Amino acid sequence: MSILSGKNILLGISGGIAAYKTASLVRLFIKSGANVKVVMTPSSKDFITPLTLSTLSKNPVYSSFTNEDDDNAIWNNHVDLGLWADLFIIAPATANTLSKMANGVCDNLLLATYLSAKCPVYFAPAMDLDMYKHESTLRSFKVLKSFGNILIPATSGELASGLVGEGRMAEPEDIVAFIEDDILGKLPLRNKKVLITAGPTYEAIDPVRFIGNHSSGKMGFEIAKAAANNGAEVILITGPTHQTASHSLIKIVPVTSAQEMYSETHNYFKDVDVAILSAAVADFKPKQVASQKIKKKDSTLTLELEKTKDILASLGANKKHQYLVGFALETNNEIENAKGKLKRKNLNLIVLNSLNDKGAGFKGDTNKVTFIDDKENITEFQLKSKTEVATDLLNKIIKEIDA
Ligand code: CTP
Repeated sequence: MSILSGKNILLGISGGIAAYKTASLVRLFIKSGANVKVVMTPSSKDFITPLTLSTLSKNPVYSSFTNEDDDNAIWNNHVDLGLWADLFIIAPATANTLSKMANGVCDNLLLATYLSAKCPVYFAPAMDLDMYKHESTLRSFKVLKSFGNILIPATSGELASGLVGEGRMAEPEDIVAFIEDDILGKLPLRNKKVLITAGPTYEAIDPVRFIGNHSSGKMGFEIAKAAANNGAEVILITGPTHQTASHSLIKIVPVTSAQEMYSETHNYFKDVDVAILSAAVADFKPKQVASQKIKKKDSTLTLELEKTKDILASLGANKKHQYLVGFALETNNEIENAKGKLKRKNLNLIVLNSLNDKGAGFKGDTNKVTFIDDKENITEFQLKSKTEVATDLLNKIIKEIDA
């Protein structure tokens, strides 16, 4: 899945021959899962039609402050457009538009939107060699970069004028790759590895029966997605669950029993920066696993259980540089019990769910948690969706490992 998936991309097109390539650019953004809107300068319509771009982007195309053809003219609100955008990409960016952007000129909708936008702005210049090299253009680049705008450099090649040299707009594929790399490179967990355990474990009684629990795995999968969305490489070790995660940064390692989860977790632990153990691991397993299906010949059946290995405690004992997070599900004396677990298992952070809170726990879509860290900071949260809890948790971890 592309990092652009779900993002609102506003494409600003100014009037140069490279505008014909923006049809492909819109297609590529749509294919990456982004929502696309297009704003054009009036002169860019000489190079590509709004109809083409509207069809490809599946949205109306904007080029003036009002829809002039309509008697009841509708105001195209540049502020709303600017605020809608997660990313604003100006491609092609002509010398004229770049100069106006650098100087706060605001005589068309694209420029007014530029001045209103609060999101990252990328610009892909396209012009003739001499214009590209002119001091005035170079000054525009410098000023725009000082505003925090990001230059997608033009490439060298044959130009529309017949000249050969720098000034050709980057190819649509390269523009998309440039933006993806730029975003990924700036994510706070870029180059970090995060190990997550999720779901229940099943402890075999015989070839067809097991001891399990009601964990849905949802919390762990949401944490995995939040970590990957922050740029981390994620190893998600999960017991049996219906959850899915298709993200290029998430590697799923399916396991069944506590022992398998223990082995896989230890396989990966030494190389990770953060480990978050949210699985509902069985605390006990049958001492003997029957090799054949147990028959119901007697009126009672006694199973002897033995303890499973505590994965979290074993990681705490082996911990070196890793930031280690555990979960605690408590019914009484919650804070004190959770603090005890934090110390005993040598954790950096514990996420407490109280079974006394309605909507908390491992079956539903919501959770109500309290974070307790190793400096005894306690943060209590309201009832939230598990997606939001995962975001809160990742924000806390990013803050702590950055400090
Ligand atoms: N955990 C684990 N391995 C186990 C049992 C639990 O890694 N065999 C982890 C869970 O993933 C969770 C944390 O330990 O992060 C807390 O589990 P919990 O069952 O609440 O606590 P316990 O330490 O088992 O203590 P108790 O059952 O006595 O409350």
